[in-house]
Amino acid sequence: MEEMRLQKYLAASGIASRRKCEQLILEGKVEVNGKVVQALGAKINPKTDEVKYNGKIVKPEEEKIYLLLNKPIGYVTTAKEQFGRNKVLDLVKVEKRIVPVGRLDMYTSGALILTNDGDFVNRLTHPKHEIDKTYNVTISGRITKEEVEKLEQGVVIDNNYKTRPAKVKILKIEEQKNQSRIQITIHEGKNRQVRKMCQAIHKKVLALHRCKIGNIDVKDLKLGEWRYLTEKEIKSLLES
Ligand code: URA
Repeated sequence: MEEMRLQKYLAASGIASRRKCEQLILEGKVEVNGKVVQALGAKINPKTDEVKYNGKIVKPEEEKIYLLLNKPIGYVTTAKEQFGRNKVLDLVKVEKRIVPVGRLDMYTSGALILTNDGDFVNRLTHPKHEIDKTYNVTISGRITKEEVEKLEQGVVIDNNYKTRPAKVKILKIEEQKNQSRIQITIHEGKNRQVRKMCQAIHKKVLALHRCKIGNIDVKDLKLGEWRYLTEKEIKSLLES
């Protein structure tokens, strides 16, 4: 990184507007390498110089990125993998250190958001702000209306947790294969929740795919492909 003016560096780090940063410099509140700098023309090298404002180190804000991956099955969402399994982070080659927003289990495919914005991760995974997640599920056997109602009203998983109301649609009953395809939308995100919900009505999950997070659909991406989220999509996630 090249040298840059001190006030520009401070502003880029989110301290204040450039004009206000000039004022802070003039007021003697800014140090470079341990020395107060009050000259407005001063330049710094962001790589090698240490800048402090009010005694605290100032770092430029990293550009935030948000992307949507269509996760294939056989990949884990953990960043550190001890067992040599494939990681979703190997599918997304970007310079920045990103993390998945929530989890998808190894045998589930579909929509997964990754970002380097920690506040965004906290907000979207906080129980208060959980957003709708929609799954297409293939289960063994023919699902009945009563079973659909049970899933919708809530079933007990993890011994004593009753799942919150969900939306459930029957997509297709495949008589010959003795399978059913259903769509479940949940507003919470307990570990392996959809599998456990199906287990609670004694149905075996044969395939599980998350098709949507909020209104963001993954259908235009092939498995393993990713794209950046649009500003509108990021906003819609934060507002939901
Ligand atoms: N429910 C599951 O069972 N697995 C997932 O990965 C996500 C939701």
